[in-house]
Amino acid sequence: EVWNPNGKYRVISTKPMPGTRWINLLIEQDCRVEICTEKKTILSVEDIIALIGNKCDGVIGQLTEDWGDTLFAALSRAGGKAFSNMAVGYNNVDVNAANKCGVAVGNTPGVLTETTAELAASLSLAAARRIVEADEFMRAGLYDGWLPHLFVGNLLKGQTVGVIGAGRIGSAYARMMVEGFKMNLIYYDLYQATRLEKFVTAYGEFLKSNGEQPVYWKRASSMDEVLREADVISLHPVLDKTTYHLINKESLATMKKEAILVNCSRGPVVDEVALVEHLKQNPMFRVGLDVFEDEPFMKPGLAEMKNAVVVPHIASASKWTREGMATLAALNVLGKIKGYPVWGNPNQ
Ligand code: DGY
Repeated sequence: EVWNPNGKYRVISTKPMPGTRWINLLIEQDCRVEICTEKKTILSVEDIIALIGNKCDGVIGQLTEDWGDTLFAALSRAGGKAFSNMAVGYNNVDVNAANKCGVAVGNTPGVLTETTAELAASLSLAAARRIVEADEFMRAGLYDGWLPHLFVGNLLKGQTVGVIGAGRIGSAYARMMVEGFKMNLIYYDLYQATRLEKFVTAYGEFLKSNGEQPVYWKRASSMDEVLREADVISLHPVLDKTTYHLINKESLATMKKEAILVNCSRGPVVDEVALVEHLKQNPMFRVGLDVFEDEPFMKPGLAEMKNAVVVPHIASASKWTREGMATLAALNVLGKIKGYPVWGNPNQ
């Protein structure tokens, strides 16, 4: 699909993206916009090289694509200076390789913070209250009357939520769980202390001034402290060498037998084989997963686990957010081509 065929700058989007604002922004700035409508979901490096061709000023790509040496070299040969991932995470992008080829890299932080945190909250609730199991039971026509023990789950109020990685999304999730469900909070983050600390301190003051019970919270000095103490644990780190299999056989064994684990970050943060085994051994342990180690696949056994809620990497999938991500990605590419400031820049 081609928009503004006579535009001076050739910008490619490897996927159709929601809304039209991003297309209009590019057209207004003299870009020819080419949108790949290839049916297969995941494009290979070869597919993308073919798209780039001989002349390409910038590319908007997706987290399913492998943006390393080969693609950045192809983009650079075609005269390209800009690449933006339509995602906040950029573990699929080799930023050093891009730099070496003189290509600027952008990402799309900010617009997906609340949407992603809301999905983490939804998975926490779905796991705690066994919503998917109950839905399946209902649809199967098995409900034959109210029973005192039917789908009994966990009350979140007064329990402790544990957050690993208190950046933008982790902090927004923590706020939702603390304010919305009156949970206590324990969190661990190597780098970001103040964002969440400011909120819980101010919220504590607010509760006190209203004569309400204060929320208990602490910044843990180790991840294990969170794993030991929390009833619901939500993972929000970036994926890099240090967080690969952060949750493994040993760390799972540290958690409470009836804990809930939520992952809306990246699949490989969790050793999924160890997780399946843990779910089998501990039927009261529950998990809510938006991401998987070998996406789009699940490790054998996971699909059969009743104590797992699984959704297909949709944490940022609200209309407003996806349109916002597309717009930011376009602005990132445009910024580099036209010399405007770039919104999301992993080098900053
Ligand atoms: C991201 O942005 O990194 C998400 O995984 C998809 O929105």
